[in-house]
Amino acid sequence: MTQPLRIAIAGLGTVGGGIVKMVQKHGHLLEKRAGRPVVITAISARSRNKDRGVDLSAYAWEDDPVALARRDDVDLVIEVMGGEDGPAKACVETALQNGKHVVTANKAMLAMHGQAMAEMAENAGVALRYEAAVAGGIPIVKALTEGLAGNGILRIMGVMNGTCNYILTEMENTGAAYGDVLKDAQELGYAEADPTVDVGGIDAAHKLALLSSVAFGTKVDFASVQIEGIERVTLDDIKNARDMGYSIKLLGVARMNPDGLEQRMQPCLVPSNSPLGQLSGVSNMVVVDGDFIGQTVYQGPGAGEGPTASAIMADVMDIARGLIIPVFGQPAAGLVKSDASGTGSDAAYYLRFSLQDQAGVLATLASILGNYGVSINRMHQYGHDGKTAPLVIVTHTTSRAALDNALAKISALAASLAAPVALRIETI
Ligand code: NAP
Ligand code: HSE
Repeated sequence: MTQPLRIAIAGLGTVGGGIVKMVQKHGHLLEKRAGRPVVITAISARSRNKDRGVDLSAYAWEDDPVALARRDDVDLVIEVMGGEDGPAKACVETALQNGKHVVTANKAMLAMHGQAMAEMAENAGVALRYEAAVAGGIPIVKALTEGLAGNGILRIMGVMNGTCNYILTEMENTGAAYGDVLKDAQELGYAEADPTVDVGGIDAAHKLALLSSVAFGTKVDFASVQIEGIERVTLDDIKNARDMGYSIKLLGVARMNPDGLEQRMQPCLVPSNSPLGQLSGVSNMVVVDGDFIGQTVYQGPGAGEGPTASAIMADVMDIARGLIIPVFGQPAAGLVKSDASGTGSDAAYYLRFSLQDQAGVLATLASILGNYGVSINRMHQYGHDGKTAPLVIVTHTTSRAALDNALAKISALAASLAAPVALRIETI
């Protein structure tokens, strides 16, 4: 097989720029490993004249990414523009309709349109690959679709957003303010164009929905992911958690329960001395439990130019070698729609209340928790200023429904000065 694989790149930002650099630096290596040249023929972005720090003069330019996807001198389109719909979707659909392979980093688009696009690709006999869309440079899609293909998957758990992990660990390690660290993450190229998608847990939920589909043979169901972001996690919460031996992580969990598919993305406390608790900076970690293999752990950089380009090129190389596998690990037409499971298994919780500093308030709160069967494990009252009494409680294992009922009652108390914070303590 000596015909070159001819690539077009739609989007020349953080990720697209990294791909160009990698092909320019490693062209010879890629050719040796793929057994054929891997060449860029055409590119597209919004602004033709922007200095991108790389020499683009050898590549044909298209203003319109859809025209790029139709070109006769292109076998494979890499979509790295972003956006759930609009030009990204039009570009990918056009490429697939024109019999071209597609590699994309766009989890937002696949979380919404992955099923239809997978059917389109499989009907056309071309590949649609998205390793870079989930957990940055970590080859987790490949691990699930290939390395663990013989296993029934019992659970997927992990940190899947580099921006959030960077923010939480910088706050924990340096005491820096949330807004300052978010700005750093944007400057480092980690964050989405709209960073509220990162800190709101949505980006990580997109990724979890894609992994669930591969793991459990279900249609991508982003709408059923229970999502909570890190916006309400304060420096105080991070310090309190650390004092009690925990770190706060934006953690995703997916598992098939008897009543349906559980998919949660929420800030959780994990033991500080566990691998997840130790995970720092932009790193991601995905823990997969399989019925034959047991537990496997995948860790690496979850965002940024180099790691994302690395994941994109891994997909390109598979296609260059002629490997075409079903998009979600089994033919898309056979993926099933699953019911959404309830609120997740019972767990212990970290609770923070802001209460008026008055006699009897603590007793009232404890009795409400008790009335709903929520048992207190540890309690710490700190930082009295004469008017407010911030209170931290760690519960014993309880159901989320019981806890929510108790918290609603407590919120309604005249002595309650702010909505309580409740963070799940996750068993690893
Ligand atoms: P970015 O730096 O903002 O780059 C986006 C690129 O797309 C820019 O080159 C932009 O052109 C181009 N573009 C946007 N709209 C376009 C349009 N209508 N027509 C043509 N070109 C258009 O974004 P990024 O960080 O590289 O992310 C790209 C994708 O990769 C997103 O789906 C993101 O979720 C995903 N991703 C990113 C990372 C990461 O670490 N950054 C990691 C994994 C996945 P101009 O440069 O001319 O404005
Ligand atoms: N914004 C994403 C993150 C990029 O921070 O993880 C990688 O998907």
